[in-house]
Amino acid sequence: MKKRLIFTHPLPLTIDHEMSQLFDIETIPFEQLVKQDMIEAHGLISILSDDLSATNLKKFPKLEVIAQYAVGFNNIDLLECQKRGITVCHTPDVLTQATADLAFAMLTSLARKIPEAQKAARDGQWRGWSASDYLGKNLEGAQLGIIGLGEIGSAMAKLCQQSYAMDIFYHNTKPTPKAQALGAKYLSLEELCSTCDIISLHTPLTTKTKHLIGAKELSLMKPDAILINTARGQVIDQKALCESLKQEKFFGVGLDVTTPEPLAADHELYQYSKVLITPHIGSAQQQTRENMAWLCWRNAQEVLENREAITAVKDFS
Ligand code: DGY
Repeated sequence: MKKRLIFTHPLPLTIDHEMSQLFDIETIPFEQLVKQDMIEAHGLISILSDDLSATNLKKFPKLEVIAQYAVGFNNIDLLECQKRGITVCHTPDVLTQATADLAFAMLTSLARKIPEAQKAARDGQWRGWSASDYLGKNLEGAQLGIIGLGEIGSAMAKLCQQSYAMDIFYHNTKPTPKAQALGAKYLSLEELCSTCDIISLHTPLTTKTKHLIGAKELSLMKPDAILINTARGQVIDQKALCESLKQEKFFGVGLDVTTPEPLAADHELYQYSKVLITPHIGSAQQQTRENMAWLCWRNAQEVLENREAITAVKDFS
């Protein structure tokens, strides 16, 4: 009997005859799937909004592999998977450049006040050429602080270094050898927040990084700092961020991720034209998404055919 592989979301992947010979493949939205008490599935190709908590995982007694269509996997109870012998895979590397590109695009847009200028133009506030409207911030030689210097953080650092000769600082739980190639200097979280002109978040969401950027860290940041988050919304204490914005802090804030997602259209964060909000589009490039889908398929196939996954999650801490 063929093993059953369920996609919880339609992905840019053509299931050809050969693939469908291997497994019984179906696409069923996660919310619909977990309405059932017991789900017959050996493999699951999941997305970041699927709640793969221990409670929901109990409904999949035969599960061998979860291939997550994202690099982040904070929606999955890894310890439960480890206990159950379920291999969890994700999609690192293939989305590194796309996500760093978005962080960099947010930075340059905010530095040139593009969101504010666009809003003014649309709202009929374009009064003619002006020598003093929408003056941007020069980025040459700025001090960039990366929180979470992994693959994406390093790619963002490279873009900033190559384009604007920025000085790179970083904070991780511990210093990383990756920093050497970039000449990035390690700082404590407090030092990084108070020294850097630009702070870009690239850390995974874990129990340790939830609200890593809270009222204290925000208060340490320079009044005209630019803060970018393309990681996970919960890395920032969003209430504290709203308080800082009320106090007119920040030159600009770029959020590709928020708490919750989607963010309600009447949320106060939308009141600030210097806050650029995008709907979690870090990896949203055609080729990137196709590569992610293929990697998910290959991971699921390897595990279901009793071989090693290509990109299994290894850190279960
Ligand atoms: C990820 O991969 O974790 C992104 O947030 C979505 O692609």
